Amino acid sequence: MTIDKLKLRIFKSRLLQRLFGAKVDVRASWADTPKDYQDMVEFLDWFDRTDSIASTVERAATDWKLRFAQSAAYRDLAKQVALEIGFGGGRLLMQAAQDFKQVIGIDIHANFAMTERFLAQQGVANYQLLHRDDFAKVPDASVDFVYSFIVFQHFDGMAEVDYYLSHIDRVLRPEGVAQIYYGKNQGDGVALTTASDFRLRDCSLFISPTTMRGIVSERFDLLEYSDKLPRDAVNNSGESVQAMVLFRRKSG
Ligand SMILES: C[S@@+](CC[C@H](N)C(=O)[O-])C[C@H]1O[C@@H](n2cnc3c(N)ncnc32)[C@H](O)[C@@H]1O
Repeated sequence: MTIDKLKLRIFKSRLLQRLFGAKVDVRASWADTPKDYQDMVEFLDWFDRTDSIASTVERAATDWKLRFAQSAAYRDLAKQVALEIGFGGGRLLMQAAQDFKQVIGIDIHANFAMTERFLAQQGVANYQLLHRDDFAKVPDASVDFVYSFIVFQHFDGMAEVDYYLSHIDRVLRPEGVAQIYYGKNQGDGVALTTASDFRLRDCSLFISPTTMRGIVSERFDLLEYSDKLPRDAVNNSGESVQAMVLFRRKSG
């Protein structure tokens, strides 16, 4: 399948919805679609638009540097174990693996084999991939840095946010931090796209920054947040659909 075929897949899915009111199950679409990709560029393109492995690697380096590695909290971290929620093709695991002794990736998709191939091609061996349902296998208080980028906006409800926050609370070391990017609701509260309105690969969960900060603060000490981020971090231009919270376990 070529990248043009990916566009065709999305077009067909949208046409079926328009003509027959077909529903697209948000979670199943993220879980199942990647197994159809055996070509590396097509596989990577599903998770983060790309036309080559080189541009994925380059963009990953920029995202890592500008979205994660610049905070004071990040610089001060012990760099033993990092954990990514929603690793996709593995481009940010590859970045984290350069800074941390070990990286753990959690996802729901059904093609971990292609992520393993990508990481092997990039010379990364210090990683472990786990299905979302196996998060309990990560030991308590064992992780220095939990991070997630362009993932929470694709959840099918707030129960999933709660699931991950409770695991973050469990696995973070006392001095560890979590940095989570999430889809921003411009209005109040939470907005969720229903299966009938959901379009393949689009965002489905939008949370107002005030609501997200409130939820996070119930369990954690909020260290930093940003409600307005540049869409293009290199040129510092545009406005991202994401907002960000950075937090650690409550002290005492
Ligand atoms: C747009 S991709 C981003 C991948 C990666 N974070 C990156 O920046 O390249 C979204 C990822 O979130 C994953 N995802 C969607 N729902 C998830 C869930 N409930 N739990 C874990 N991962 C999920 C998808 O399988 C996909 O890998």
